Amino acid sequence: MQCNVAIVGATGLVGQEFIKVLQQRNFPVTSISLYASDRSDGKKLYVGHQAIIVKETTPESFDNVDIALFSAGSEVSRYFAPIAAKAGALVVDNSAAWRMDPKVPLVVPEVNAEDIKLHDGIIANPNCSTIQMVVALYPLHKVNPIKRIVVSTYQAVSGTGSAAMEELTTQTKLVLEGQNVVPHVYPHQIAFNLLPEIDVFLDSGYTREELKMVEETRKIMHAPDIAISATCVRVPVFIGHSEAVNVEFTDPIAPDDARRILAEAPGVKVLDDPSVSLYPQPWLAANSDDTYVGRIRADASHPRGLVMWVVSDNLRKGAALNAVQIAEEAVKRGWVNRQK
Ligand SMILES: NC(=O)c1ccc[n+]([C@@H]2O[C@H](COP(=O)([O-])OP(=O)(O)OC[C@H]3O[C@@H](n4cnc5c(N)ncnc54)[C@H](OP(=O)(O)O)[C@@H]3O)[C@@H](O)[C@H]2O)c1
Repeated sequence: MQCNVAIVGATGLVGQEFIKVLQQRNFPVTSISLYASDRSDGKKLYVGHQAIIVKETTPESFDNVDIALFSAGSEVSRYFAPIAAKAGALVVDNSAAWRMDPKVPLVVPEVNAEDIKLHDGIIANPNCSTIQMVVALYPLHKVNPIKRIVVSTYQAVSGTGSAAMEELTTQTKLVLEGQNVVPHVYPHQIAFNLLPEIDVFLDSGYTREELKMVEETRKIMHAPDIAISATCVRVPVFIGHSEAVNVEFTDPIAPDDARRILAEAPGVKVLDDPSVSLYPQPWLAANSDDTYVGRIRADASHPRGLVMWVVSDNLRKGAALNAVQIAEEAVKRGWVNRQK
Protein backbone atom coordinates (compact mmCIF):
# COMPACT_ATOMS: atom_id res chain seq x y z
CA MET A 1 0.00 0.00 0.00
CA GLN A 2 1.28 3.49 -0.91
CA CYS A 3 0.00 6.18 1.43
CA ASN A 4 -1.08 9.79 1.40
CA VAL A 5 0.42 11.06 4.66
CA ALA A 6 -0.52 14.20 6.59
CA ILE A 7 1.63 15.58 9.41
CA VAL A 8 -0.13 17.86 11.90
CA GLY A 9 2.39 19.90 13.89
CA ALA A 10 4.90 19.67 11.05
CA THR A 11 6.81 22.80 12.14
CA GLY A 12 7.48 21.44 15.64
CA LEU A 13 10.36 19.36 16.97
CA VAL A 14 8.46 16.08 16.64
CA GLY A 15 6.94 17.13 13.29
CA GLN A 16 10.41 17.77 11.87
CA GLU A 17 11.54 14.38 13.15
CA PHE A 18 8.50 12.76 11.46
CA ILE A 19 9.69 14.13 8.12
CA LYS A 20 13.22 12.77 8.68
CA VAL A 21 12.08 9.35 9.91
CA LEU A 22 9.60 8.82 7.04
CA GLN A 23 12.40 9.48 4.57
CA GLN A 24 15.10 7.52 6.38
CA ARG A 25 12.84 4.45 6.61
CA ASN A 26 11.52 4.75 3.04
CA PHE A 27 7.94 4.81 4.27
CA PRO A 28 5.66 4.02 1.29
CA VAL A 29 4.49 7.56 0.58
CA THR A 30 2.46 8.82 -2.39
CA SER A 31 2.16 12.35 -1.01
CA ILE A 32 3.02 14.22 2.18
CA SER A 33 1.00 17.24 3.31
CA LEU A 34 2.17 19.44 6.16
CA TYR A 35 -0.09 21.18 8.65
CA ALA A 36 0.42 23.41 11.67
CA SER A 37 -1.33 26.43 13.21
CA ASP A 38 -2.42 29.57 11.32
CA ARG A 39 0.93 31.11 12.42
CA SER A 40 2.75 28.80 10.01
CA ASP A 41 0.31 29.01 7.08
CA GLY A 42 2.38 29.53 3.91
CA LYS A 43 5.73 28.62 5.48
CA LYS A 44 7.98 26.46 3.27
CA LEU A 45 9.46 23.22 4.60
CA TYR A 46 11.62 20.69 2.78
CA VAL A 47 10.91 16.99 2.49
CA GLY A 48 14.18 15.84 0.94
CA HIS A 49 14.68 18.28 -1.94
CA GLN A 50 10.96 18.91 -2.34
CA ALA A 51 9.63 22.20 -0.94
CA ILE A 52 6.18 21.82 0.61
CA ILE A 53 4.00 24.69 1.79
CA VAL A 54 2.65 24.29 5.32
CA LYS A 55 -1.06 24.91 5.67
CA GLU A 56 -3.27 25.78 8.60
CA THR A 57 -4.98 22.64 9.96
CA THR A 58 -8.70 22.63 9.11
CA PRO A 59 -11.42 19.95 9.07
CA GLU A 60 -10.83 19.60 5.30
CA SER A 61 -7.12 18.79 5.77
CA PHE A 62 -7.82 15.05 5.94
CA ASP A 63 -9.69 14.38 2.71
CA ASN A 64 -7.92 11.51 0.87
CA VAL A 65 -5.40 11.01 3.69
CA ASP A 66 -4.46 7.42 4.60
CA ILE A 67 -2.17 8.11 7.57
CA ALA A 68 -2.32 11.24 9.74
CA LEU A 69 0.60 11.72 12.14
CA PHE A 70 -0.32 14.19 14.89
CA SER A 71 2.12 16.08 17.13
CA ALA A 72 0.47 19.41 17.89
CA GLY A 73 -0.62 18.94 21.51
CA SER A 74 -3.66 17.45 23.21
CA GLU A 75 -6.15 20.18 22.40
CA VAL A 76 -5.51 19.93 18.66
CA SER A 77 -5.67 16.12 18.79
CA ARG A 78 -8.89 16.07 20.79
CA TYR A 79 -10.55 18.27 18.15
CA PHE A 80 -9.01 17.12 14.87
CA ALA A 81 -8.20 13.41 15.41
CA PRO A 82 -11.87 12.28 15.33
CA ILE A 83 -12.43 14.44 12.23
CA ALA A 84 -9.45 12.84 10.50
CA ALA A 85 -10.55 9.33 11.52
CA LYS A 86 -14.08 10.01 10.26
CA ALA A 87 -12.62 11.14 6.93
CA GLY A 88 -10.98 7.69 6.66
CA ALA A 89 -7.44 8.37 7.88
CA LEU A 90 -5.62 6.23 10.42
CA VAL A 91 -4.48 8.74 13.06
CA VAL A 92 -1.31 8.05 15.04
CA ASP A 93 -1.37 10.62 17.81
CA ASN A 94 1.61 11.77 19.86
CA SER A 95 -0.32 13.75 22.46
CA ALA A 96 -1.74 12.50 25.77
CA ALA A 97 -5.33 13.11 24.58
CA TRP A 98 -6.33 9.53 23.75
CA ARG A 99 -3.77 7.33 25.48
CA MET A 100 -5.93 6.08 28.32
CA ASP A 101 -9.17 5.85 26.30
CA PRO A 102 -10.10 2.14 26.53
CA LYS A 103 -11.20 2.18 22.87
CA VAL A 104 -7.85 3.53 21.66
CA PRO A 105 -4.83 1.20 21.37
CA LEU A 106 -1.64 2.52 23.00
CA VAL A 107 1.20 0.91 21.13
CA VAL A 108 4.93 0.27 21.27
CA PRO A 109 5.45 -2.11 18.32
CA GLU A 110 8.19 -4.12 20.08
CA VAL A 111 5.67 -4.89 22.85
CA ASN A 112 2.05 -4.91 21.63
CA ALA A 113 1.94 -4.53 17.82
CA GLU A 114 -1.11 -6.83 17.76
CA ASP A 115 -3.16 -4.12 19.49
CA ILE A 116 -2.91 -2.00 16.32
CA LYS A 117 -5.61 -4.03 14.63
CA LEU A 118 -8.13 -3.06 17.35
CA HIS A 119 -8.11 0.59 16.30
CA ASP A 120 -11.20 2.52 15.38
CA GLY A 121 -9.33 5.21 13.46
CA ILE A 122 -7.03 6.47 16.23
CA ILE A 123 -3.91 4.89 17.75
CA ALA A 124 -2.08 6.63 20.59
CA ASN A 125 1.69 6.92 20.82
CA PRO A 126 2.79 6.65 24.46
CA ASN A 127 4.67 9.16 26.56
CA CYS A 128 8.38 9.29 25.69
CA SER A 129 9.66 8.07 29.07
CA THR A 130 7.21 5.18 29.07
CA ILE A 131 8.20 4.00 25.57
CA GLN A 132 11.90 3.52 26.30
CA MET A 133 11.18 1.88 29.66
CA VAL A 134 8.82 -0.74 28.23
CA VAL A 135 11.14 -1.48 25.29
CA ALA A 136 13.81 -2.35 27.87
CA LEU A 137 11.59 -4.14 30.40
CA TYR A 138 9.12 -6.12 28.29
CA PRO A 139 11.67 -8.74 27.06
CA LEU A 140 12.51 -9.50 30.70
CA HIS A 141 8.84 -9.41 31.79
CA LYS A 142 8.02 -12.06 29.16
CA VAL A 143 10.37 -14.61 30.79
CA ASN A 144 10.04 -13.49 34.42
CA PRO A 145 6.96 -11.37 35.15
CA ILE A 146 7.67 -8.02 36.77
CA LYS A 147 5.96 -7.27 40.09
CA ARG A 148 7.23 -3.78 40.89
CA ILE A 149 9.11 -0.92 39.18
CA VAL A 150 10.69 2.14 40.81
CA VAL A 151 11.98 4.59 38.21
CA SER A 152 13.65 8.00 38.28
CA THR A 153 13.88 9.86 34.99
CA TYR A 154 16.34 12.47 33.71
CA GLN A 155 14.38 14.05 30.86
CA ALA A 156 15.79 16.34 28.16
CA VAL A 157 14.29 19.75 27.46
CA SER A 158 13.37 18.77 23.87
CA GLY A 159 10.55 16.78 25.51
CA THR A 160 8.87 20.15 26.11
CA GLY A 161 9.20 21.32 22.49
CA SER A 162 11.24 23.86 20.54
CA ALA A 163 10.65 26.79 22.94
CA ALA A 164 12.32 24.80 25.76
CA MET A 165 15.37 24.05 23.59
CA GLU A 166 15.74 27.80 22.99
CA GLU A 167 15.27 28.54 26.69
CA LEU A 168 18.11 26.20 27.71
CA THR A 169 20.44 27.76 25.10
CA THR A 170 19.60 31.33 26.14
CA GLN A 171 19.81 30.67 29.87
CA THR A 172 23.11 28.83 29.57
CA LYS A 173 24.67 31.83 27.78
CA LEU A 174 23.20 34.29 30.31
CA VAL A 175 24.46 32.31 33.32
CA LEU A 176 27.95 31.99 31.82
CA GLU A 177 27.97 35.77 31.24
CA GLY A 178 26.96 36.31 34.87
CA GLN A 179 23.58 37.77 33.97
CA ASN A 180 20.15 37.21 35.53
CA VAL A 181 17.82 34.56 34.11
CA VAL A 182 14.05 34.98 33.81
CA PRO A 183 12.36 31.60 33.20
CA HIS A 184 9.51 31.41 30.65
CA VAL A 185 8.90 27.77 29.72
CA TYR A 186 9.68 26.19 33.11
CA PRO A 187 8.79 27.51 36.59
CA HIS A 188 12.50 27.89 37.44
CA GLN A 189 15.85 28.23 35.70
CA ILE A 190 16.73 25.02 33.83
CA ALA A 191 20.35 25.89 32.91
CA PHE A 192 22.76 24.27 35.42
CA ASN A 193 19.74 23.05 37.40
CA LEU A 194 17.30 20.11 37.81
CA LEU A 195 13.52 20.40 38.12
CA PRO A 196 11.57 17.53 39.73
CA GLU A 197 8.36 18.76 38.10
CA ILE A 198 7.12 17.52 34.71
CA ASP A 199 3.48 18.27 33.83
CA VAL A 200 1.12 19.33 36.66
CA PHE A 201 1.10 18.19 40.29
CA LEU A 202 -1.80 15.93 41.31
CA ASP A 203 -3.49 15.61 44.73
CA SER A 204 -1.45 12.42 45.33
CA GLY A 205 1.77 14.46 45.31
CA TYR A 206 2.92 12.78 42.07
CA THR A 207 2.96 14.73 38.79
CA ARG A 208 0.83 13.79 35.80
CA GLU A 209 4.00 12.74 33.92
CA GLU A 210 4.72 10.27 36.74
CA LEU A 211 1.14 8.97 36.62
CA LYS A 212 1.46 8.54 32.81
CA MET A 213 4.43 6.22 33.35
CA VAL A 214 2.33 4.10 35.73
CA GLU A 215 -0.89 3.89 33.72
CA GLU A 216 0.64 3.68 30.25
CA THR A 217 3.14 0.96 31.21
CA ARG A 218 0.33 -1.21 32.57
CA LYS A 219 -1.83 -0.66 29.46
CA ILE A 220 0.94 -1.33 26.90
CA MET A 221 2.26 -4.44 28.69
CA HIS A 222 -1.26 -5.71 29.48
CA ALA A 223 -0.07 -5.97 33.09
CA PRO A 224 -2.57 -4.08 35.26
CA ASP A 225 -1.11 -5.38 38.53
CA ILE A 226 2.48 -4.14 38.25
CA ALA A 227 3.23 -1.74 41.12
CA ILE A 228 5.02 1.34 39.77
CA SER A 229 6.40 4.48 41.38
CA ALA A 230 8.04 7.18 39.23
CA THR A 231 9.92 10.41 39.90
CA CYS A 232 10.29 12.48 36.73
CA VAL A 233 13.00 15.13 36.58
CA ARG A 234 13.80 17.68 33.85
CA VAL A 235 17.54 18.07 33.29
CA PRO A 236 19.60 20.54 31.24
CA VAL A 237 20.20 18.10 28.38
CA PHE A 238 18.95 18.93 24.87
CA ILE A 239 18.08 15.47 23.52
CA GLY A 240 17.87 12.02 25.14
CA HIS A 241 15.95 10.86 28.19
CA SER A 242 17.73 8.71 30.80
CA GLU A 243 16.16 6.50 33.46
CA ALA A 244 17.42 4.69 36.57
CA VAL A 245 15.10 1.70 36.90
CA ASN A 246 14.79 -0.72 39.84
CA VAL A 247 12.77 -3.79 38.93
CA GLU A 248 11.41 -6.56 41.16
CA PHE A 249 10.69 -9.83 39.32
CA THR A 250 8.63 -12.90 40.24
CA ASP A 251 11.79 -15.03 40.44
CA PRO A 252 15.44 -14.12 40.95
CA ILE A 253 17.23 -13.14 37.73
CA ALA A 254 20.99 -12.97 37.20
CA PRO A 255 22.38 -9.78 35.60
CA ASP A 256 24.15 -11.92 32.96
CA ASP A 257 20.84 -13.54 31.98
CA ALA A 258 19.18 -10.13 31.72
CA ARG A 259 22.09 -8.89 29.57
CA ARG A 260 21.74 -11.93 27.27
CA ILE A 261 17.96 -11.50 26.89
CA LEU A 262 18.26 -7.77 26.23
CA ALA A 263 21.10 -8.24 23.72
CA GLU A 264 18.63 -10.18 21.54
CA ALA A 265 15.60 -7.95 22.15
CA PRO A 266 14.18 -5.82 19.31
CA GLY A 267 15.07 -2.13 19.51
CA VAL A 268 17.50 -2.64 22.40
CA LYS A 269 21.29 -2.23 22.49
CA VAL A 270 23.19 -3.28 25.58
CA LEU A 271 26.13 -1.00 26.43
CA ASP A 272 27.42 -2.41 29.67
CA ASP A 273 31.11 -2.69 30.53
CA PRO A 274 32.01 -0.75 33.66
CA SER A 275 35.69 -1.70 33.27
CA VAL A 276 35.94 0.70 30.30
CA SER A 277 33.23 3.15 31.50
CA LEU A 278 30.85 1.84 28.84
CA TYR A 279 27.23 2.77 29.59
CA PRO A 280 24.41 4.60 27.79
CA GLN A 281 24.55 8.40 27.65
CA PRO A 282 22.02 10.85 26.18
CA TRP A 283 24.69 12.57 24.10
CA LEU A 284 25.44 9.29 22.31
CA ALA A 285 21.80 8.16 22.04
CA ALA A 286 20.67 11.37 20.29
CA ASN A 287 19.77 10.80 16.62
CA SER A 288 19.78 7.06 17.07
CA ASP A 289 16.85 4.64 16.96
CA ASP A 290 17.80 2.21 19.72
CA THR A 291 16.96 2.10 23.39
CA TYR A 292 20.28 1.68 25.20
CA VAL A 293 20.57 -0.32 28.43
CA GLY A 294 23.55 -0.54 30.77
CA ARG A 295 24.65 -0.57 34.43
CA ILE A 296 22.71 -3.85 34.77
CA ARG A 297 23.30 -5.19 38.26
CA ALA A 298 21.65 -7.12 41.09
CA ASP A 299 19.60 -4.87 43.33
CA ALA A 300 21.41 -4.94 46.67
CA SER A 301 18.12 -4.15 48.43
CA HIS A 302 16.04 -7.03 47.00
CA PRO A 303 16.76 -10.74 46.27
CA ARG A 304 14.58 -10.70 43.11
CA GLY A 305 15.63 -7.25 41.94
CA LEU A 306 17.69 -5.76 39.13
CA VAL A 307 18.84 -2.19 38.59
CA MET A 308 19.53 -0.72 35.16
CA TRP A 309 20.13 2.54 33.28
CA VAL A 310 18.03 3.12 30.17
CA VAL A 311 18.61 5.90 27.60
CA SER A 312 16.92 6.78 24.32
CA ASP A 313 16.33 9.69 21.93
CA ASN A 314 13.00 11.14 23.11
CA LEU A 315 12.24 12.76 19.75
CA ARG A 316 12.84 9.52 17.82
CA LYS A 317 11.89 6.35 19.77
CA GLY A 318 10.07 8.55 22.30
CA ALA A 319 7.91 10.20 19.64
CA ALA A 320 8.33 10.25 15.84
CA LEU A 321 10.03 6.90 15.28
CA ASN A 322 7.60 4.94 17.44
CA ALA A 323 4.64 6.58 15.66
CA VAL A 324 6.08 5.79 12.21
CA GLN A 325 6.78 2.20 13.31
CA ILE A 326 3.09 1.92 14.28
CA ALA A 327 2.09 3.20 10.83
CA GLU A 328 4.54 0.77 9.18
CA GLU A 329 3.07 -2.20 11.04
CA ALA A 330 -0.46 -1.09 10.11
CA VAL A 331 0.53 -0.87 6.44
CA LYS A 332 2.49 -4.14 6.46
CA ARG A 333 -0.29 -6.12 8.12
CA GLY A 334 -3.17 -4.54 6.16
CA TRP A 335 -4.61 -2.86 9.27
CA VAL A 336 -4.74 0.76 8.07
CA ASN A 337 -8.48 0.50 7.57
CA ARG A 338 -10.70 -0.50 10.49
CA GLN A 339 -11.03 -4.28 10.93
CA LYS A 340 -14.60 -4.15 12.25
N1 LIG B 1 9.12 16.50 22.25
C1 LIG B 1 8.96 15.25 22.65
O1 LIG B 1 9.91 14.54 23.07
C2 LIG B 1 7.61 14.62 22.61
C3 LIG B 1 7.52 13.28 22.88
C4 LIG B 1 6.29 12.66 22.84
C5 LIG B 1 5.19 13.41 22.54
N2 LIG B 1 5.30 14.73 22.28
C6 LIG B 1 4.08 15.46 21.97
O2 LIG B 1 4.11 15.95 20.63
C7 LIG B 1 3.44 17.21 20.57
C8 LIG B 1 4.33 18.26 19.95
O3 LIG B 1 5.57 18.30 20.58
P1 LIG B 1 6.80 19.13 19.99
O4 LIG B 1 7.92 18.81 20.88
O5 LIG B 1 6.95 18.93 18.53
O6 LIG B 1 6.30 20.65 20.26
P2 LIG B 1 6.71 22.00 19.49
O7 LIG B 1 8.10 21.97 18.99
O8 LIG B 1 6.33 23.09 20.44
O9 LIG B 1 5.72 22.04 18.22
C9 LIG B 1 4.34 22.18 18.36
C10 LIG B 1 3.68 21.98 17.00
O10 LIG B 1 2.26 22.04 17.18
C11 LIG B 1 1.72 22.96 16.24
N3 LIG B 1 0.50 23.59 16.73
C12 LIG B 1 0.32 24.34 17.84
N4 LIG B 1 -0.95 24.78 17.92
C13 LIG B 1 -1.60 24.29 16.84
C14 LIG B 1 -2.93 24.41 16.34
N5 LIG B 1 -3.87 25.10 17.00
N6 LIG B 1 -3.26 23.77 15.19
C15 LIG B 1 -2.31 23.06 14.52
N7 LIG B 1 -1.03 22.93 14.91
C16 LIG B 1 -0.67 23.54 16.08
C17 LIG B 1 2.84 23.99 16.09
O11 LIG B 1 2.59 24.75 14.92
P3 LIG B 1 3.12 26.29 14.80
O12 LIG B 1 4.58 26.19 14.48
O13 LIG B 1 2.31 26.83 13.69
O14 LIG B 1 2.87 26.95 16.11
C18 LIG B 1 4.03 23.07 16.00
O15 LIG B 1 4.11 22.49 14.71
C19 LIG B 1 2.97 17.47 22.00
O16 LIG B 1 1.67 16.93 22.12
C20 LIG B 1 3.90 16.69 22.84
O17 LIG B 1 3.33 16.34 24.08
C21 LIG B 1 6.48 15.35 22.30
